[in-house]
Amino acid sequence: MRKKTVAANWKMNMGVKSAQSLLRELIPLVKDSFVEIIICAPYLTIPTVVELTKGTGIKTGAENMYFHDKGAYTGEISPGMLKEAGVSHVILGHSERRKYFDETNEIINKKILKALEYDLVPMACCGESLEIRGDGLAKQYIHRQVMEMLQGVPKEDVEKCIFSYEPIWAIGTGIGATKEQAEEGCMEIRRCIAGMYGDETADNCTILYGGSVNPSNADSIFAIKAIDGGLLGTASLSLDFATVVKKREQIG
Ligand code: PGA
Repeated sequence: MRKKTVAANWKMNMGVKSAQSLLRELIPLVKDSFVEIIICAPYLTIPTVVELTKGTGIKTGAENMYFHDKGAYTGEISPGMLKEAGVSHVILGHSERRKYFDETNEIINKKILKALEYDLVPMACCGESLEIRGDGLAKQYIHRQVMEMLQGVPKEDVEKCIFSYEPIWAIGTGIGATKEQAEEGCMEIRRCIAGMYGDETADNCTILYGGSVNPSNADSIFAIKAIDGGLLGTASLSLDFATVVKKREQIG
C-alpha cells in the first residue's frame, strides 16, 4: 500500500552506543508521526533499534541480506535471522552494494523473492550513474533495473515492496537531484511497474527518492506527487532526520 515514508539508511555507521544516543533523542520527536518511519541499521545495531523503538510505530530495517535460507555462507545473514531479530524491512540493491560487492539485478531479484517469502518488505533501490545520465540513457537504465529486479514477483507482492530512486551521483555528494530529475526517476519506476502489472498496482506502490535528501531540500522533493517519501543516508545520522519527517508530515 502506498504510504508517506521516511527511511534511514545508516550504512556502516552507528554502533550500539551511538545508535542509543541518537535514538534517545530522535524517538520522542517522531514517534507519534503518521509518516511510516523505517530505520535501517547495521546488523549488530539491529537489536538496539528493535528494543528502543518498541511500542512506537517505528520499523526496523536491515541494509542487506542473503538469498539463501541458511547454510555455509560465511559472513552472510539470512532472512530468517532478520525476522527473528524483529526486522520488518530490508534495503536491497543499494548502489553501494552494486558497486562494492558486485550485486547484479539478478542477485537482487533473488533477494527480493526471498525477502517476500519471509514477509520482509524489500526496499528495492535503482538509479543511474552520471555517465549513463550523460548519455541520455537514465530512463532506459532505470526501467531495465526495475524489470530485472521484479522477475517472477507475483502481482500481489509488488505492492508490498518499497522502491527507491537513487541516482548514484546524488548519493552522499550533498548535490541532490533537481525536483524534475527526482520526479522523472520515480515516474519511470512507476511506469515500469505499470507496464508489468497494470496501472492500479503501480499506483499502490510506495516510491521514495534517495540522494542527499536533507532539511533544506525535503520540502521541494516531498511536494512532488510522484514521490512518497525519502531514503536518507547522511541526514539520518543526526536529528536532521526528525526535521525531514516533519517536512513529510506538513506536506501531507
Ligand atoms: P545520502 O544517501 O542521503 O547520504 O545521499 C542516500 C542513500 O544512499 O540512500
